[in-house]
Amino acid sequence: MTGRKRRSGKLANTSPSRFSTRSRFITLLLFALVAASVVLPGIAAAADNPYTSITPKSQDGDDIQLLYKIIFWIALFVFIGVQAAIVVTVMKYRRRHDDEPRPEQIHGNQRLEVLWTIIPAIVLVAVFIPTVRTMFQINDRADDSAYTIEVYGKQWWWEVQYKEPEAVANVVTANELYIPVNTRVRVELLTSNVIHSFYVPQLAGKMDLIPGHTNVMSIEATEPGMYYGECAEFCGDSHAFMRFKIMAVPQDQFDAFIAGWHQGADSDAAALTENGDVDSVPSAFGLCLACHRVGGVPNLADGTPMQDTPNGLEGGESPANMILGPNLSMFACRTTIAAGILPNNSESLYKWIHDPGGVKEGNYMAQMIKEGTVTDADIDKIIEYLKTLQPEAGCPVITGVNSDQVHSLADETTPPGDSGTDSATPEASPEASPTDQSFHAIPGVKS
Ligand code: CUA
Repeated sequence: MTGRKRRSGKLANTSPSRFSTRSRFITLLLFALVAASVVLPGIAAAADNPYTSITPKSQDGDDIQLLYKIIFWIALFVFIGVQAAIVVTVMKYRRRHDDEPRPEQIHGNQRLEVLWTIIPAIVLVAVFIPTVRTMFQINDRADDSAYTIEVYGKQWWWEVQYKEPEAVANVVTANELYIPVNTRVRVELLTSNVIHSFYVPQLAGKMDLIPGHTNVMSIEATEPGMYYGECAEFCGDSHAFMRFKIMAVPQDQFDAFIAGWHQGADSDAAALTENGDVDSVPSAFGLCLACHRVGGVPNLADGTPMQDTPNGLEGGESPANMILGPNLSMFACRTTIAAGILPNNSESLYKWIHDPGGVKEGNYMAQMIKEGTVTDADIDKIIEYLKTLQPEAGCPVITGVNSDQVHSLADETTPPGDSGTDSATPEASPEASPTDQSFHAIPGVKS
């Protein structure tokens, strides 16, 4: 009995350990397969995501992508080398028997230490040289710009002021930024509150907006389209809801945007204002003028000219920018509201104007407008007026990349003679919050 026990004891030391080598290897392989099956579809899906940098649509994006590929392949090579060395070492030198002698104990190995200092140094130099060269190249391109715009980071939205050339000066917009395709635009980044970061993954690298300092970058889209951007630096409550878009359009559509901006409301607005004048606003909209302006609409509800604050409609020089809210010129052409969170339609507008704080935590408008501050009847009138904020000839046409996702308030048709009765959607839940699916849903993107 004892002998058999001892034999089985011996067996446990030899054959089961060989079995466990194989089982360990299989476990490792299974783990790698599971990890791959989780990661690979994610990478495939990422290519369709408009917030990805792996499908660049600009020269700058291509250059950054090339760096990414260089680093990726070097990293993969290093990873496989290190993992292989670990697996081989563990398999080859593991302890097989209890009575195996301890290997010779040594301290240090000069040859190995020199080797594993030099190899990482070579890897770092191989990454460093192309990275720095690309940074300088991209930086230099800003000097070849045909247009200059200023982008101000607000909490939590983006103001865009067109500066140069003269033809575009004083145009101010928010969150949806029109640029001509195949034309370089110099982007000066400013903020008067906290640090934000301007990031359009398909067009350019990210750059911070820093109080008291102007950062400069440039963008040039080589394909027309609607590009998604986001704030990439934590900046407070609603940092995650600080998105924007770049509309890269053919030159004629860009010119239409600039011309349309100066036009103000279309002729439908006449039926909504008290004095029948498109240069005035409806009285329900008067409250909005405390913080917002509309390019091309110079008068208050009573027909008297609006007083521009020092930094009002004309853009102004100071990063402090005295107009508190987004400029609403050509609002009906925007695809989203509240800095890219909600699709721009009557339903979203009702939610927003009814209770902005319920939609977007911590936003400034929510300090002024609570539930019930604006009556449903007035919300209706405001929405109807916002629909008229588009050029008489219609919104600029966006084609190309992501253009299937372009839907704006201007696409909403109001049945004739039914003006204002269908917009204050009673089904709209006043309790709606950013946790609702719809708030995260970006058209065409699975959340
Ligand atoms: Cu602005 Cu994060």
